[in-house]
Amino acid sequence: MFISIQEAISQGKGNVALRGWVYRERKSNKLAFIVLRDGTNIIQCVIEKDKVSSGVWSSAEKVMVESSVTLEGEIREDKRAPTGYEVGVTDLKIVQTAERFPITKDQSTEFLLDVRHLWLRSRELTTVWKVKSAILAAAREYFEKQKYVEVTPPIITGSSCEGGSTLFKIDYFGEEAFLSQSAQLYLEALIFSLDKVYAITPSFRAEPSKTSRHLTEYWHCEGEAAWMQFDGLLDFMEGLISHVCVTVAEKCSAELKLLGRNSDDLKKIVPPFPRITYDEALNILKKDGIDVPWGKDLRTEEEEQLVKHYDKPLIVTRYPKKIKAFYMKDDPKNSEVVLCCDILAPEGYGEIVGSSQREENIDVLKEKIKNQGENIEHYNWYLDLRRFGSVPHSGFGLGIERIVRWFCRLETIRDAIPFPRTIKRKTP
Ligand code: 4AD
Ligand code: MG
Repeated sequence: MFISIQEAISQGKGNVALRGWVYRERKSNKLAFIVLRDGTNIIQCVIEKDKVSSGVWSSAEKVMVESSVTLEGEIREDKRAPTGYEVGVTDLKIVQTAERFPITKDQSTEFLLDVRHLWLRSRELTTVWKVKSAILAAAREYFEKQKYVEVTPPIITGSSCEGGSTLFKIDYFGEEAFLSQSAQLYLEALIFSLDKVYAITPSFRAEPSKTSRHLTEYWHCEGEAAWMQFDGLLDFMEGLISHVCVTVAEKCSAELKLLGRNSDDLKKIVPPFPRITYDEALNILKKDGIDVPWGKDLRTEEEEQLVKHYDKPLIVTRYPKKIKAFYMKDDPKNSEVVLCCDILAPEGYGEIVGSSQREENIDVLKEKIKNQGENIEHYNWYLDLRRFGSVPHSGFGLGIERIVRWFCRLETIRDAIPFPRTIKRKTP
């Protein structure tokens, strides 16, 4: 019976049957080394010509990188081997002999993106997918514990949530429709029957810029809760982010280490997180010699400078109304700013969360929609939510690839998703 490489390593001795792909191979007259890879780990396997049948030796001679194989042999500890164990092979069968693998050392990023369907087998990227899976599981776990209901909002929509400039238009049987930028408006509809909901969906942004933090298609984890006010929102997000950090640090410490991240960094991410207002952020920046005129959004460089002062995610609240979305509620103490919050990752990885308390008054909301130059007709259904049992409520959206990039210390967000979609790339 086949077992996984990780199970074989845990077993540590005796006979094992393994299957997987050839990660590396090296041959001489009498010896062949294969590093075998499966979904769990890699292991060195050695084939000695004198100890195996001529059929097995001829398979060993034919084997190429990325060939699929099955093998049997005895596993033993070997300190020199890459993962500390080696299999002395007694039987080897090639399932498919791979052609010459196009990926070798020192290839350009563009080429590697062209062969992404093959490059994603690399050890680094494979490890990233595992960390990402743990992040998604931990987020779901937190929502479920807090009695949120997972819902499935639409991707094809008729109205914009985050403004027209990053909206993807599609031809919908001759009519105009859009790809969802955020499930928020639909989550708002669902809280009136379920109280607290969340969704993990793809979101789309026609981002015209090429940056290390923007994708045109990304995974968005969003929550929305009836009765939740601004302070409750901040506490909830703090709890969620901390739970994801601590859980993934524990579950994936080996994976994180392989990616150059010390999991202790993430274990320290516990409440309370530092909380500052937009105005306070401008003051801090001013002291650092950076002048941002009141009313301007914070740019990447400014966010990077701000977070240098902290080693936990930074909660920045109460941005000017004119730079934020129509659905955000005015701060009752100062109507120039809204009850919104962005959370900035430590170490300069940028904004990971956008959130706010929502405007629940229909007249104020209509005014806000008009002021943002949006067509009120598109929001008729949404305005109904303020006509039938409107309540105070709040919600947020967390960019999964932004978190993955931070945890895995990735240079670019492209490596946080198997098939990145950017301004220049829609294939493979
Ligand atoms: O700040 P944003 O635009 O907020 C919203 O969409 C709200 N409607 C969410 C809500 O309240 N339900 O986006 C939320 C998060 C950002 O903080 C960022 O982490 C991520 O989504 N994000 C992106 N991630 C990758 N590529 C992009 N182009 C992204 N745009 C936003
Ligand atoms: Mg935002």
